Amino acid sequence: MTPVVAMDQQEQVSVRDLISDAELTRSDLKLIFELAERVKASPAAYAGALAGKQLAMIFEKPSLRTRTTFEVGMTSLGGFAVYLEHVKPRLGERESIKDVARNLERWVDGVVARTFAHQAVVELAQNASIPVINALTDLFHPCQAISDFFTLKEKHGRLRGLTLAFVGDGNNVCHSLMVTGAKLGVTVRVATPAGFEPKSEIVKEARAAGRAGGGTVQLFHDPLEAVAGAQAVYTDVWASMGQEFAAHLRAQVFASFQVNDALMAAADRGAVFMHCLPAHRGQEVTDSVMDSSRSIVYDQAENRLHVQKAILMLLMQNGHR
Ligand code: CP
Ligand code: NVA
Repeated sequence: MTPVVAMDQQEQVSVRDLISDAELTRSDLKLIFELAERVKASPAAYAGALAGKQLAMIFEKPSLRTRTTFEVGMTSLGGFAVYLEHVKPRLGERESIKDVARNLERWVDGVVARTFAHQAVVELAQNASIPVINALTDLFHPCQAISDFFTLKEKHGRLRGLTLAFVGDGNNVCHSLMVTGAKLGVTVRVATPAGFEPKSEIVKEARAAGRAGGGTVQLFHDPLEAVAGAQAVYTDVWASMGQEFAAHLRAQVFASFQVNDALMAAADRGAVFMHCLPAHRGQEVTDSVMDSSRSIVYDQAENRLHVQKAILMLLMQNGHR
């Protein structure tokens, strides 16, 4: 029989849901990292950790990594995940989000949701008595950022004092990296074309989070200036899901923000290249950078699995709230 490692009763995060990066404390992040490390080192020891638990996964947008890692993660913890395709109609169109929440809580133990409107995930959580996890909204992608800093810590051995330069669009991934990064003591530099900066209220929120954590956020319009001396260079697509109609225009506006060998050369000698993926090779990043030894993009993708298993356990192991 597979051994089950019970989680320590003390191992409790301060939140019931994972909606945005802002809600997690530094000790929550520490707990997630520690558990993820243990799960990654001995996955078999956690094979029954969520035995009999059911997870519903609502997706309004496509996904490779998030869907696979949540589904595989849930199964390998002894639970089960059901995929609810909500590309058409979107969540809340066939029936109210409140009613979706009140149905799901009768059948499953947790919900993962990828939506356009951030408010849709907030509403789900407000109306469900089971944990709700943000699997990406137009505003945040917390599971991505938590996994990314877990990966960066593996590579550099620490986070506090590091500089991560995000080059491209001030989007959902950028927002989550700013808030979680600053909280963890990282200086997050963001270089965008004028007009594509991250939301000012989220920059403010990240700077406030950084005051306790020792990190901060700095904004630039020159990618070379932003990456100078950075230990990590991060980029994401120039047109996020839902913005495809503007992809052509954005390709022109963002052309000088491509992460290529010249830009990587301006970063710290030991700098790693990061991307949440999917990547548009030849646009925001060249093949030479994606396929270089500095690229840790597939480690980031792998760690989504381990980190999300830790998140699922911390939020779902104690049953309904
Ligand atoms: N990075 C990420 O969330 O990938 P998917 O869109 O494939 O889930
Ligand atoms: N910013 C991207 C991230 C994909 C994981 C998007 O929202 O499409």
